[in-house]
Amino acid sequence: MQKKYLVKKSPIHGNGVFAAVPIKKGEFIAEYLGEKIDKAESNRRGLAYEEAAKKTGKGSVYIFELDDKFDIDGNNDYNDAKYINHACRTNAEAVCQDGSIKFYATRDIEKGEEILYNYGYALEHFLDHPCHCGFPECVGYIVSVQDRPKLRKILSKGNRRKYFQNKAKKSAKKHCN
Ligand SMILES: C[S@@+](CC[C@H](N)C(=O)[O-])C[C@H]1O[C@@H](n2cnc3c(N)ncnc32)[C@H](O)[C@@H]1O
Ligand SMILES: [Zn+2]
Repeated sequence: MQKKYLVKKSPIHGNGVFAAVPIKKGEFIAEYLGEKIDKAESNRRGLAYEEAAKKTGKGSVYIFELDDKFDIDGNNDYNDAKYINHACRTNAEAVCQDGSIKFYATRDIEKGEEILYNYGYALEHFLDHPCHCGFPECVGYIVSVQDRPKLRKILSKGNRRKYFQNKAKKSAKKHCN
């Protein structure tokens, strides 16, 4: 099957995946390819990749959660889908089914558009994941669609200071032990 996309530099972050042809809503775009590993191995490799990335100053951790038992280690040369970036306005979704992770278009996509989906990160560590998607609806951080209203509340004028004061108090407590 001919590829419907190409990988090139993205204005959002590093490399991205872009439509090489018009793609219709519901069409398959790409599969996240790699070795299926259990959670223990995934944690081990994730930490090792993070350490390596710290040393080289570049590189992302390309591990995708498949289900509650397994992940896919997509850190290889043949997995183009590892370059799909997050955005707060999306045109694709990742479907995890029958042991595979596949990306499908959620609307018609024009040739040249970047393929973007929501990474669905939990709210807890939002400060570690700033979002540079640049869309008007960007919430500033990479979080799931469900958590966006909560994040907006945290970041609203009145709450922002309270949130960061509480966070500082909590981390001060941790250091006292
Ligand atoms: C799986 S990689 C995506 C491909 C990445 N652009 C690359 O070249 O390796 C995931 C990483 O890309 C970055 N990223 C993806 N979407 C982003 C966004 N909207 N804003 C900022 N960084 C983003 C983050 O560093 C994230 O940890
Ligand atoms: Zn955004």
